[in-house]
Amino acid sequence: MPEVPGRRPGCFVVDLDGAMIGYITFDRRGAEHPGHVRPEAGEAALGYLFLPEAWGRGYAAEACAAALDWFAGALPSEPVVLCTQAANDRAMRLAAKLGFTEVKRFEDYGAEQWFGAWSSVTLPG
Ligand SMILES: CC(C)(COP(=O)(O)OP(=O)(O)OC[C@H]1O[C@@H](n2cnc3c(N)ncnc32)[C@H](O)[C@@H]1OP(=O)(O)O)[C@@H](O)C(=O)NCCC(=O)NCCS
Repeated sequence: MPEVPGRRPGCFVVDLDGAMIGYITFDRRGAEHPGHVRPEAGEAALGYLFLPEAWGRGYAAEACAAALDWFAGALPSEPVVLCTQAANDRAMRLAAKLGFTEVKRFEDYGAEQWFGAWSSVTLPG
């Protein structure tokens, strides 16, 4: 265990009528992992985990969109990345809905991983 806990750019608990149904995190993506959009690594990586009973109702999409909106204001012009197993249909559909686009795919943890990026900055043209 490190003496000083690592710092995350963001961490959110999602509640529905006072009960926790999921959480959303922004972690710094370490250089030891494959998949980066910055040479120095350390990008903010979005993570999401919701209780199965809350799936299929659009709550994750709504909450993640709000978290990304917060991120765009807190750390403007920083990209956000996301890595999930390509076989994780729900996570893949959510990533596409949120506006993540594929950067690359690679093998890790014995499975194909999908690595995508999102940016609040609209490129000219
Ligand atoms: C990934 C995960 C967050 C996706 O949750 P989800 O509920 O499927 O995602 P959304 O909030 O986008 O909901 C989409 C579904 O809600 C439905 N829906 C119902 N009412 C809706 C509404 N009012 N508005 C929007 N969507 C609605 C959509 O039609 C869609 O259904 P479908 O999946 O059958 O096509 C969830 O599966 C999860 O926590 N998985 C385990 C953790 C995990 O795998 N994390 C990723 C690792 S990086």
